[in-house]
Amino acid sequence: MWLEDRHGVELRNHTTGKVFVDKLFLKNICEGPCSEQEVCASSRMVSRQVPDNYKRPKEKVLQQAKEFLDGFFRNSKKFGSEEHISRLLEVHKDIEDTSRYHLTYDELVYGCGMAWRNAPRCVARVQWSTLKVFDARHVQTAQEMFHSIIEHINYATNQGRLRSVITVFPPRTDGQSDFRVWNSQLISYAGYRNPDGTIKGDPSNVQFTELCLSLGWQIEQTTRFDILPLVLQAKGLPPEIFVIPDDVVLQIPLAHPSFPWFQELGLRWYALPAVANMLFDCGGIQFPAAPFNGWYMGTEIGSRDLCDPQRYDISETVASKMELDTSSHTTLWKDTVLLEVNKAVLYSYQMCGVTTWDHHTASESFMQFYENEMKTRGGCPADWIWLVPPMSSSISPLFHQEMALYFLKPSFEYQTAAWSNTPKKLAVKQIAKRTPKFRAVMIAVRLCSYLYHSRWLKRPKVVLLFASQSGKAENFATKAFFKFKSLFQAKLYCMADYDINQLQDQHATIAIVSTFGDGEAPSNGDEFKKSLVKIKEENSKIRFVNKSSCFAVLGLGSTAYPNFCAFGKFVDNRFQELGGTRLLALNCADELNNQEKAFQTWLLDVTNALCKQYLIRVDNSNFVNKGSSFDQLNTVSARFSVIEGGKEDVLQVLSDVHHKEVSLARVSGKSIIGDSGSSEGHATIFLQLNTFNSENLKYKPGDHLAVFPRNNQDIIQRFTLRLKNCPATRSLIQLQVQNPNQKWQNWKKIAPCTFETLLSRFVDLTGSPSQDTLRLLASSAIDQTEKAQLNILAEDSASYKQWVSLGYANIVDVLEDFSSVRVDAAALISILPVLQPRFYSISSSAAIVPTEIHLTASVVRCLTLDGEGRVFKGLCTSYLEEIRRGDFVACYFKSNSSFHLPLYPSKPMIWIAAGSGIAPFRGFWQQRCFEKGVPFHSTFITKVWGKFWKPNIQHQASNRYGSIYLYYGCKEKALQPFSSEVDAMIHHKIISRTFFAFSREKGKSKCYVQDLLWKDGPRVSAQILNEGAYVYVCGRLAMAAQVEKTIIKIICQYGNINQDEAEMVFKNLKAEGRYKTDVFGAS
Ligand SMILES: Cc1cc2nc3c(=O)[nH]c(=O)nc-3n(C[C@H](O)[C@H](O)[C@H](O)COP(=O)(O)OP(=O)(O)OC[C@H]3O[C@@H](n4cnc5c(N)ncnc54)[C@H](O)[C@@H]3O)c2cc1C
Ligand SMILES: Cc1cc2nc3c(=O)[nH]c(=O)nc-3n(C[C@H](O)[C@H](O)[C@H](O)COP(=O)(O)O)c2cc1C
Repeated sequence: MWLEDRHGVELRNHTTGKVFVDKLFLKNICEGPCSEQEVCASSRMVSRQVPDNYKRPKEKVLQQAKEFLDGFFRNSKKFGSEEHISRLLEVHKDIEDTSRYHLTYDELVYGCGMAWRNAPRCVARVQWSTLKVFDARHVQTAQEMFHSIIEHINYATNQGRLRSVITVFPPRTDGQSDFRVWNSQLISYAGYRNPDGTIKGDPSNVQFTELCLSLGWQIEQTTRFDILPLVLQAKGLPPEIFVIPDDVVLQIPLAHPSFPWFQELGLRWYALPAVANMLFDCGGIQFPAAPFNGWYMGTEIGSRDLCDPQRYDISETVASKMELDTSSHTTLWKDTVLLEVNKAVLYSYQMCGVTTWDHHTASESFMQFYENEMKTRGGCPADWIWLVPPMSSSISPLFHQEMALYFLKPSFEYQTAAWSNTPKKLAVKQIAKRTPKFRAVMIAVRLCSYLYHSRWLKRPKVVLLFASQSGKAENFATKAFFKFKSLFQAKLYCMADYDINQLQDQHATIAIVSTFGDGEAPSNGDEFKKSLVKIKEENSKIRFVNKSSCFAVLGLGSTAYPNFCAFGKFVDNRFQELGGTRLLALNCADELNNQEKAFQTWLLDVTNALCKQYLIRVDNSNFVNKGSSFDQLNTVSARFSVIEGGKEDVLQVLSDVHHKEVSLARVSGKSIIGDSGSSEGHATIFLQLNTFNSENLKYKPGDHLAVFPRNNQDIIQRFTLRLKNCPATRSLIQLQVQNPNQKWQNWKKIAPCTFETLLSRFVDLTGSPSQDTLRLLASSAIDQTEKAQLNILAEDSASYKQWVSLGYANIVDVLEDFSSVRVDAAALISILPVLQPRFYSISSSAAIVPTEIHLTASVVRCLTLDGEGRVFKGLCTSYLEEIRRGDFVACYFKSNSSFHLPLYPSKPMIWIAAGSGIAPFRGFWQQRCFEKGVPFHSTFITKVWGKFWKPNIQHQASNRYGSIYLYYGCKEKALQPFSSEVDAMIHHKIISRTFFAFSREKGKSKCYVQDLLWKDGPRVSAQILNEGAYVYVCGRLAMAAQVEKTIIKIICQYGNINQDEAEMVFKNLKAEGRYKTDVFGAS
């Protein structure tokens, strides 16, 4: 486990209980097996653990479910079968609807086995496929849990011939209603603290024993080997306590083959080692209660349980009975004791006919398993530190085997002890009745003094949330975070990674969010938005509970769109409804009106307001009160750290950077309609991508594909020529920045990759440079005139705005225009935005082309400066123009459920599109062909017809399909994409009628789609008002805005109602989901 921790690594001594915090690596440049600022902490008992009440975001559930089901069907040799596909679809739908799904019993069995197989610390994995699974997902109460556990213990114990068993209780739902077994093992011994501080019983269970007693467990006479009761919690309710009947627990009195006195020591141990507190994580679903058992390896008892100084610690007693010379370590008396105790354990278990194994046999069997896994699976995650036995390590074959530690799913995961977080009230109330013990008091005193001395912990907890599509909100949030960190306990989260329940614990919640689509949240804010809606609908108790809880929201948007900053407004409103105190009024930063300046002002205001609210004094040297707060941020130093010997995986880096499952699709066909060569030519690219039937790329008509463009070689070369300190193109590098505390941190926005990949895939070189970037360039300009010009652009908003709108200069143009600028590569790259994917509406139906995705893209190209300047070329469309058949495109699929076909096909539809806005409608008409059984196109009626997708029988049977009217506009008839296909659709009565508008047809007056609609007003209004028609609009914003106006006008005119009423009807139409838009962008 490689661990990066800004506060150091906590390291516990399990014998003394001392906790050390190792921080040395933070201050030093570390070299060796670990990369800089990273430290290997794999000897920590719990080196990774599931966060409390962690509710996995839907996207991750989907991803993990798919991976798991693929594995399941691969394992049962049914990968790619109809059963596989339909199961994926079913699960996908369930997750979309409820964020969960139900694993079948077979899937559960497979998942349990795999979790065992994947457990890096388990030496007994050779048995993984024999695990017996008890499905207890139906249980409702703690009582029922208890019965299941007794059944488990009985079956597993099997009169000593142990069987490996797991019992799976219901999965996590909302993170608040977990089923949990509070015990760490189903069977374990109690530990009692004597008045003199010594311990009777198992010291590792003292705390838990005290908890059981406080919960009402009664024991008449305590011994060293009292079986602890089970503490079980169902549905997040207060736990209940159950005593395990004596006859259920098989215990073995310990004797030695040669020392009769050994038996008189009165030692014993139980037969069944059953781990009860780990979380079983399978296919995206978490099972917080899933106790499982195998059998003991003798050393676990002989060496660890009995001889560990912090456990039963019997070494000295045994040594004295053996009359060993304990005066010096050199007599190796401890080793002798260890050996004899271990012999006693193995001997006793054998004598009682109870399954166990010695560490040599276990090691050898593991080696066999390990080699087999390497052969059959290509690897085996393994934790050397845990696997090597605790005695005779170097004579075990495991000692000499190098191992790689990593974590696969399904898995068993550590989680916080149930009593430490749920349900707090009960546990705290009952424990509080007990007289505090000396050790507890000491801990409390130490903790208090730590808190007292730590000014940091007294600072308000400020969480910064962002949701961002193209990276601006994220960029701003990162800047704000750097600033907040020195004043508050600040944390930065993308909304997609934030557990909304945590809102309750914050002092202040600051959100920076953009708006996308038609007033929607960006995709990484989608889930958060849904959670906020759900909280309201379900009247959930989630609230800003701190009295002093406050919030502030900065919305990013563009006044070019009708729903300006709609998501920011939504978040701001909901935060208030949840009981937060508004720290500042909502601030909307307009892309068309110096968004960056608005952000700077807002940041200053919000920082001051937070300081005021929490009475934090800021002296004059603090940047909060400085005029230009960004000087510090801009002088952040950056560097490239070269990673030796690593290999890059571009898809993985793209997936990591964009938090998406990025796939590759191969270009299987491409054609261009129109003139793409000229500087202002209007051309449309039609692209066929082969998805290899990848489940990651399954879509419905109306969905989007995000395509990752690449910067071309020419711009990369021009860029690198202007930079200082570029690393070698092929070196694997990690960009690092020095934060305000002078520490080097990995630049989270970009994962390690080669410099070549960084420039081609991750740095936005073609957008207009921001004012921040220009400021950095100004500071690096040698020529004073250039410095002054750059400074004007960097500081004067009006000049900057004009410069952007006129010039469309990208960073490379600027570096070439201002030739005295010599800037450090790492410093510049660290402030340039991350290259974002471009979305395209899918123009095909998976029913017709199951292994393909088709796209229709308008080439973006124009002459700047009113025809006098450079040719501006859209990045992605240029990339798509250049790629050839056989090339691979990195992409991911994004569902767009608000633009799917209506549930009932009998409803009439009005399709309105301009330019490449025709794209999704092609998917729609293909889908309709499929459903009606109409041949689509000879080359597309593939052999696979019906192989993966069955026609919707219900639709076929009803044989009632509503009319479809298509209104389409483009520049000239000759540029119209899919014209012959549209004719065929008319011929087959898939489309009822078409209406075309051409705006640049020679010799004809300009005509737009809205003109056609207006002309056809009586029918349009009748269809909308009387026939329940669905209206679909797709294309650029300007067109969509005109169409909206026209539809309202039509409703007003032909519905005989006034403007206000027509607007209301239109609003309702939208709310009912009968007016759907898929808008591409403002320009
Ligand atoms: C949900 C969604 C679906 C989409 N579906 C499609 C689709 O199916 N087909 C399709 O073609 N596009 C679609 N788009 C648009 C697409 O994502 C890209 O924005 C478009 O292809 C341009 O990308 P680019 O990288 O080539 O241009 P960029 O390099 O991103 O440049 C575009 C920028 O250039 C500027 N610009 C654009 N046009 C001009 C101009 N004429 N003069 C001067 N400057 C200009 C604007 O600032 C614009 O932001 C969709 C967008 C979204 C958000
Ligand atoms: C396709 C598209 C749709 C958009 N829709 C809206 C919108 O409905 N309302 C709005 O205020 N801004 C809208 N915007 C503008 C963005 O919110 C704005 O560009 C913002 O600065 C992006 O921030 P981000 O990079 O953090 O996502 C849209 C932009 C695009 C490209």
